[in-house]
Order: sequence, then C-alpha cells, then structure tokens
Amino acid sequence: MTSDTKTKVALVTGGNRGLGKDMALSLAARGMDVVLTYNSNADEAEAVAAEIRGMRRRAAALRFDLTDVAGIDGFVGQVGDVLRDDFGGAGRIDFLVNNAGVGRSIPIDQLTEADFDLFASVHFKGVLFLTQKALRMMNDGGGVVFVTAAADRYNVPGYGLYASCKGAIEVFSRYVAKEYGPRGIRSNTLAPGGVATDFAGGAIRSNPGLQAMVVAGTAMGRLAEPHDIGGLVALLCSDEARWLTGQRLEATGGYNL
Ligand SMILES: NC(=O)c1ccc[n+]([C@@H]2O[C@H](COP(=O)([O-])OP(=O)(O)OC[C@H]3O[C@@H](n4cnc5c(N)ncnc54)[C@H](OP(=O)(O)O)[C@@H]3O)[C@@H](O)[C@H]2O)c1
Repeated sequence: MTSDTKTKVALVTGGNRGLGKDMALSLAARGMDVVLTYNSNADEAEAVAAEIRGMRRRAAALRFDLTDVAGIDGFVGQVGDVLRDDFGGAGRIDFLVNNAGVGRSIPIDQLTEADFDLFASVHFKGVLFLTQKALRMMNDGGGVVFVTAAADRYNVPGYGLYASCKGAIEVFSRYVAKEYGPRGIRSNTLAPGGVATDFAGGAIRSNPGLQAMVVAGTAMGRLAEPHDIGGLVALLCSDEARWLTGQRLEATGGYNL
C-alpha cells in the first residue's frame, strides 16, 4: 500500500461489532483509513481491521475503555503513535465517530448509583473527554459524529438513564459545532432506532414480539440493518455533508412519525 497524504483518517469507537463494525467498513469503502477500538473483543476487532486492509486501506485496532477516563490521554497518544508509525501520517485524524456504548433496560425505581456511574461514563463523561482530546489531534475541516439514540426523543420505559446520557451528549455536540466551526470542524449526532445487534443483550435480535412492534411503528415497514446506519455515518464524514453541523439526525426509517 502506498502512502497517500490526502487519505483521511477516521477513529471509530466500538468498531469491532454491531453498528460500529459497519461504520468502520463504510468509512473504508469511502476511501478512509480507520483506527477502530474495542473494549473486550480483540479478535473481532483484528478481523475488521484485516477486512479493511483487504480494501487497500490502512487499519489498526486498539483497546479503549470509556470507563477509564484517566486512561484517555494514554489512548490518544497511542492513536498518534499508530498514525505516525503504521499509517505514515502526521499523527492526526480527520473524523471521530463516538459509537461505542452499552444498553440495558432498568426501570427508574431500580436504578442504582453504580448504574448511573457506568452509563454516565460510557455515554457522556468518557465521550466528552475523548472528544476534547481527539479534537486536539484533528485536522481543520474534519468532524465528529456522536451516535446517540432515537429513544431520547420517543420514550422507552426502562431506558431513562441511557437516554438521558445520550441527550446530554447531543447538547455537547452542538457546543462542539459552535466552538470548532471556525476551524471547519463539524459536529452532528446520529440517533438510530432499534437495530438487531448484540446491544442490550440482543434485546431486539432475540425478541420477535419486539421486532414486530418496531416494524409496525416504522414508516419503511422493516427492521434496520447495521448498514442503514453505517452508510449514514460515512455520509456525515464526507465532503457532501460539509454544510451540516450542530444537527441531530434521527435514523429510524420513520419510527413513530
Ligand atoms: N442497536 C440498537 O438498537 C441501537 C439503537 C440506538 C442507538 N444505539 C447506539 O449505537 C451504538 C452502537 O450500538 P451497537 O448496537 O453496535 O451495540 P453492540 O453491538 O452491543 O456493540 C457495542 C460496542 O461498544 C463497545 N463497548 C462496550 N462497552 C465499552 C466501554 N466501556 N468502552 C469502550 N467500548 C465499549 C463494545 O466493545 P467490545 O465488543 O469489545 O466489548 C462494542 O464494540 C451505541 O452507542 C448504542 O447506544 C444502538
């Protein structure tokens, strides 16, 4: 593979499986080099990186845990090293896709402080500080995509804590758009509806009743595929989306219209 200084680089959290895997592959299909992260599934992450290399793009898989806020500086330094040593670049990124996340239905009455700390770290605090530090290594003209959830508009019992954290990061995204716009850096949130991944213990994937309910409420009349979401992330990270910033895009196929 030859070094191409114009090739853009995307950092995708949680790129080893589910929606993040498709995002990483979709970004590579659009010609980007990709650093993807995993938390516990190193083999899956390496397989995605290998698939990207098969597309003649550079790829690296790094471990990253959003609950380890103190470790974010070290992680960002590692990304810079990989970009310099393995990608032949200047140690900078063009796009950050904040995708990694966890989900679980917890009725409000049963919420604990430990639940709060986990969800707030994974969906808000960790994302905020990763974004802050990634912006320092982002080229002008780049962008951030925050993957949030349609459930912060329509309300799903049991998802109050999760959706509140997603809502908080949507507000933060608008501030990133405001403060970094002068550098040509855009910031948007993409809010998917239900997709049959491992998310929330595979709740949608393994529950035909839930699937039927989602399909019945969806204007397009089917369940989403990961590529319905990954393709949109790639679009948001493209030049075609250069005039879009500070926006929340709901990607549900028209759920609950
Ligand atoms: N699927 C849906 O229905 C749906 C709907 C709306 C929004 N979303 C959002 O879309 C995003 C991706 O969801 P998904 O469906 O792809 O979920 P998924 O299949 O469960 O994948 C979750 C990803 O997040 C990573 N991850 C988990 N905990 C982490 C931590 N503490 N630090 C860093 N990474 C961590 C996982 O890494 P390991 O595999 O290595 O553990 C994995 O790559 C999430 O932000 C989710 O909230 C999903």
